[in-house]
Amino acid sequence: MMENSKTIRSPFFYVGDKYKLMPQLKQLMPKKIEQYIEPFVGGGSSFLNSKGTSYMLNDVDSYVVELHRQIGSYTGKSEELFDALFEIIDFYGLSCSYRGICVPEDMKKKYVKTYYSKYNKDAYIRMRKDFNANKNDFLRLYLLLIYGFNHMIRFNGKGDFNLPVGNVDFNNNVYQALNNYLDFVGEHEIEFFNMDYISFLERIRFEKNSYVFLDPPYLISMSEYNKLWNDKKEDELCEYLDSLNERGIKFGITNLITHKGKVNQRFLEWSKRYCAYDVKSNYISFNDNTIKADSQEVFVTNYA
Ligand SMILES: C[S@@+](CC[C@H](N)C(=O)[O-])C[C@H]1O[C@@H](n2cnc3c(N)ncnc32)[C@H](O)[C@@H]1O
Repeated sequence: MMENSKTIRSPFFYVGDKYKLMPQLKQLMPKKIEQYIEPFVGGGSSFLNSKGTSYMLNDVDSYVVELHRQIGSYTGKSEELFDALFEIIDFYGLSCSYRGICVPEDMKKKYVKTYYSKYNKDAYIRMRKDFNANKNDFLRLYLLLIYGFNHMIRFNGKGDFNLPVGNVDFNNNVYQALNNYLDFVGEHEIEFFNMDYISFLERIRFEKNSYVFLDPPYLISMSEYNKLWNDKKEDELCEYLDSLNERGIKFGITNLITHKGKVNQRFLEWSKRYCAYDVKSNYISFNDNTIKADSQEVFVTNYA
C-alpha cells in the first residue's frame, strides 16, 4: 500500500528534511516494522512515510519535540487547532492565502518576488516579541516557523527566537500537511522523547521487528543543528550501530559522503560493512539552499 501512496509532507517543513528522499527511502525500509524508532526525528518527514505499528521518536531539541507534542495533541480536534491558529494570524494581521487573506495587488506588483515578507514583516516581529515573552506558547512558535525564513527554528545565545520573516504564508500546503499529520498521529501509537540520541537508544527494549531509522546531522555540511555534532559523536553512533547489528536489530541511516569538495571518510569506511544505496540528494543547508550536484547522499542499511 505504502509503495504506491503519496509522500506525506511534515507540517514543520524542517530544514534538511527527508521529504524529497522519502519515495526512495521508504522502498528501502523493511517490509515488516512493529516498533519504529527514530532518534533524530526533526520535523518527522521520515516517520510520517513509514509503516510501523508503534513509534518511539526522539530529538535533542526540546522545542522541536514540544511542537510535535502540542500539535499532535489536536488529533481528532483539527478544527480547534485551525481556529486557534487563525485567531493568532488575524490578531497580528498576517496574510493567510489559505483563507484568501492576500497581499494587496499593488504591493505584489511593487515587490514581485518578496511581497509576503514585505507585507508580514511588522506583524511577524510583533508575534516574535510576544513569543519571546512567553516561550510556552507553542502555537505562536509554530506560526513563527511557518512565516519564518526557510521555516527554521532558531534561537540566539540569550535563548530568544531570532529568525527573520520569510517570503511565505499559511497556504494550502500548510493546511494539508497539518491535516495529514493529525490523521497519521491519530492512527498510530506514538511516543516522543527529548534527550541525546544515545540515552534514548539505550533505554529501548528492542523487539524482533524493531527498526531504527536514523537521519543524524551531517558532519560535512552546515546547519543549525550540526553545531551539536562532531567526529566523536559520529564515531560513537557508528559503534552503537555495530552493536545493534550484532544483536540482530535492523537499522537504516542516511548521511552525506561528499559535499562541496569534502569527504566524510570515516562514515564512508564504516559503511563498507553494510549495504549502501545512493539516494538523490536534495540537500538544503542553513545558508545555501541550492541543490548541489557535487553532493553524494547515501542510505546505509544492515539488511538487504
Ligand atoms: C537532519 S535532522 C533530521 C531531519 C528529519 N529526518 C526530517 O525529515 O525532518 C537531524 C536532527 O537531529 C537532531 N539532533 C542533533 N544532535 C542530536 C543528538 N545528539 N541527539 C538527538 N538528536 C539530535 C537535531 O535537532 C535535528 O532535528
